[in-house]
Amino acid sequence: MDFQTIKKTDNDYIASTYGRFNVAIKSGKGATAVDYDGKKYIDFTSGIGVNSLGWCDEGWQNAVISQLKSVQHTSNLYYTEAGAVLAELLCTASGYSKVVFGNSGAEANECAIKAARKYAYDKYGAGRSTIITLVNSFHGRTVTTLSATGQEGFHQYFYPFTEGFRYVKAGDIEELKQNIDGSVCGVMVEFIQGEGGVCPLDADFVKTAFELCEKNDMAFIADEVQTGIGRTGSFLCSEQFGVFPHITSLAKGLGGGLPIGAVLLCEKYKDVFAPGDHGSTFGANPVVCAGGCEVVRRISDKEFLNGVKKRGEIIRERLSGLNEVEKITGLGMMIGISLKTKNAKDVANQCAENGLLVLTAKEKIRLLPPLNISGEELSQGLDILVKVLKK
Ligand SMILES: Cc1ncc(COP(=O)(O)O)c(C=O)c1O
Repeated sequence: MDFQTIKKTDNDYIASTYGRFNVAIKSGKGATAVDYDGKKYIDFTSGIGVNSLGWCDEGWQNAVISQLKSVQHTSNLYYTEAGAVLAELLCTASGYSKVVFGNSGAEANECAIKAARKYAYDKYGAGRSTIITLVNSFHGRTVTTLSATGQEGFHQYFYPFTEGFRYVKAGDIEELKQNIDGSVCGVMVEFIQGEGGVCPLDADFVKTAFELCEKNDMAFIADEVQTGIGRTGSFLCSEQFGVFPHITSLAKGLGGGLPIGAVLLCEKYKDVFAPGDHGSTFGANPVVCAGGCEVVRRISDKEFLNGVKKRGEIIRERLSGLNEVEKITGLGMMIGISLKTKNAKDVANQCAENGLLVLTAKEKIRLLPPLNISGEELSQGLDILVKVLKK
């Protein structure tokens, strides 16, 4: 197919829930994508933080293809090697005790919410099910995770939403304290609010919130769907905030390009679910998990993570002096850029025209490049971004 035919067929047959760029990617290698006319793009998006090892990484591809040639799916009625190995790798790299697998970030968060509620129910009985989340958070698109999402704009049309969520302002410890009572079983946060505009939480707020959870036997739940698996320069972002959440949700970069979600349970929560309490037909799919094993093996390496930090610094150094740049937020290679005069969406479109893919988040430009992007691709991409920002 040529691009115009793809675009027309998409418009004719796919429900229009997305605003798309005027681009279709035909192939990719490393951090370089190629469209249907042969035009090249440097990729600073990783498919929104998913292609953590870039396009068609050889090790990842081999792991996936080799699994695909033996077993593609078994159901969770049987043991699978890839699922077991990925769970072990995740626990070893993170310090958690057990894993629940699913297919997406929203699904992982649903499971995290269920784990917090089940723990509280088992120990305290009914009536302790409220989860406190933060204003400006984003936790997914299912009815319950929309409910958990602390943004008014998401609480429309799809009534009735799931009960049992309260929102407090990020950084406002007094408001958090006022909202904790006998009905609360957990606090859920993103360390850096990604969709909310790449806004990091205050480290003291995080520590105090975690201590309040410890003191009141509530679950501190970290939504690391976007920040996890090396994105911020540590395996989990929680390491940089000096807390060990009771429950952590993961998705996006864990699969390296295939759909996966995972919930990490600490020792206290590891046996919260009994057979029948939770499940997913595709959860721990062996092909996806085989790719995930390659991702976790590579990304949990200290040197790899230092490389993520270094690349993040290079991006910050190159952009911070520009007249148009108001502020740069985020950690590692999760970067938000506030602009002084330009519109972020216009900048993103101009970047695409010039051969660079970038994201936006609220009014900011958001960068989530592949974690192993080469020095050459990084500097080529930055050249384009600088050119567009200077125009
Ligand atoms: C922090 C966070 N949580 C949850 C989600 C939802 O993930 P998914 O789209 O895989 O359901 C996202 C997606 O952007 C996210 O950034």
